[in-house]
Amino acid sequence: MKFFVDTADVDAIRELADLGMADGVTTNPSLILKSGRDILEVTREIAGLVDGPVSAEVVALDADAMIAEGRKLAAIADNIAVKVPLTWAGLKACRVLSAEGHMVNVTLCFSVNQALIAAKAGATFISPFIGRLDDINLDGMELIGEIRQVYDNYGFGTEILAASIRTVNHVAQCALVGADVITAPPAIIKALATHPLTDKGLEVFMADWAKTGQKIL
Ligand code: G3P
Repeated sequence: MKFFVDTADVDAIRELADLGMADGVTTNPSLILKSGRDILEVTREIAGLVDGPVSAEVVALDADAMIAEGRKLAAIADNIAVKVPLTWAGLKACRVLSAEGHMVNVTLCFSVNQALIAAKAGATFISPFIGRLDDINLDGMELIGEIRQVYDNYGFGTEILAASIRTVNHVAQCALVGADVITAPPAIIKALATHPLTDKGLEVFMADWAKTGQKIL
């Protein structure tokens, strides 16, 4: 399973990329706002930090303008994936941009039917939002499993990019259900390494080691 980092914070991306934990990056208008930076400039910098796809989102609402924005974003670097919303206009833009050879990430997916139609429009990635479904008492993880089944039933090559990941359990469940990619905030990715029994065990080892009076270096 690939790990994408869901942020426009270049320092956080650099830290994870140096550890081989950033197979790609996803951004959106809210994350660009949070970064306080110019979209073209920060996207160019991010694209230089990772080898894999860097999603940059269009903000137009009609297809022609989305296509024009998508071409401009894609021209930033070879590893840009143009992100379009899952609307009818977004699907039209997806079709055109993917036919031109650009990677396209179709975002704001909340149903199997939306995932199905995005795959038919040629999406490279589909981004179902787990946390936002959980927020309204629906089951985000169930959606990931259903999309996996539908894509496998028909051999769609669109990759399932599980988004709106809020907990480490979401990551484990995505891996079990077969999401191709998870995109998560840096703090969630770092938290994957933690376990209270690891901390407790290390404490005991350190205490016993101190009693030996030995040194390795
Ligand atoms: O990748 C989409 C993600 O940024 C949305 O996350 O937590 O705002 O629902 P959230």
